[in-house]
Amino acid sequence: MLKKIFGSVDAYKEIPQRDDPLFAPIEWDKLPRHVAAIMDGNGRWAKGQGLLRTAGHSSGVRTLKGILSTSIGLGLEALTVYAFSTENWKRPTTEVDFLMKLFTEQLAKEMQEMHEDNVRIRFIGRLEGLPKNLQKQIREAEELMANNTGIRFNVATNYGGQDELVRAMQKVAAQAAQGNLKPEDIDEAMVEGLLDTAGDPPVDLVIRTSGDQRLSNFLLWQSAYAEFYFTEKNWPEFTPEDYVDAMTVFAKRDRRFGGLNKK
Ligand code: IPE
Ligand code: IPE
Ligand code: MG
Repeated sequence: MLKKIFGSVDAYKEIPQRDDPLFAPIEWDKLPRHVAAIMDGNGRWAKGQGLLRTAGHSSGVRTLKGILSTSIGLGLEALTVYAFSTENWKRPTTEVDFLMKLFTEQLAKEMQEMHEDNVRIRFIGRLEGLPKNLQKQIREAEELMANNTGIRFNVATNYGGQDELVRAMQKVAAQAAQGNLKPEDIDEAMVEGLLDTAGDPPVDLVIRTSGDQRLSNFLLWQSAYAEFYFTEKNWPEFTPEDYVDAMTVFAKRDRRFGGLNKK
């Protein structure tokens, strides 16, 4: 049975079942299909604790495990998390190196268990810009989970929404240059199919922690009609209960998609 697992370090070990008290406030027919999380505030959290920024990133991993488990328990179709942006290279080399090492180690450590939970992991972004050993680890993890049918778990690493659209346009231009494509062949569905998230449902809900209210170049196309949930809490202190709160707020939103509501 599920104990008080989420306070413990092994937060990922168990997936909450539908009848878990954690899920009591959930309206099951009003859940998002695709959630995107901007995991922000690791550095500020660490500073507040008198720790190095890097300790904040390590703590952030623990939060992510709880959020992935909860997403699986909720039966979400897709979860996309922002781990490293195309702009984050501006940070000190020590911090960047720490993050790349953290991603590589955590992936090696957790991939078997994610596989057992039927997770389909995929890294999105300009992957060729990442360290070679991380690229290798990514390939291994993606291959291991390629045929899984559970939650689609996208990890945005060296990802920028503008960069993603540039890469999509380059693919279109390459096809046109070969004479395989006319301008009128380009439509929304085609563009969507060329994005890193091809095959995923559109993003329904974007969550950003730590008080800032911006996209920071995350999923620009995919968030066209997303709802936004902002919280002052920093990512390391964001709990599955907070995540459930985001779901209940989402359930109350009136999504009109440019039309008129049915109420
Ligand atoms: C988010 O936390 C994690 C990454 C960008 C890798 P930050 O490192 O941005 O933390 P703050 O925003 O400086 O507090
Ligand atoms: C966005 O956070 C990127 C990630 C969470 C990986 P940042 O901390 O880089 O965003 P800005 O610089 O505050 O916009
Ligand atoms: Mg930040």
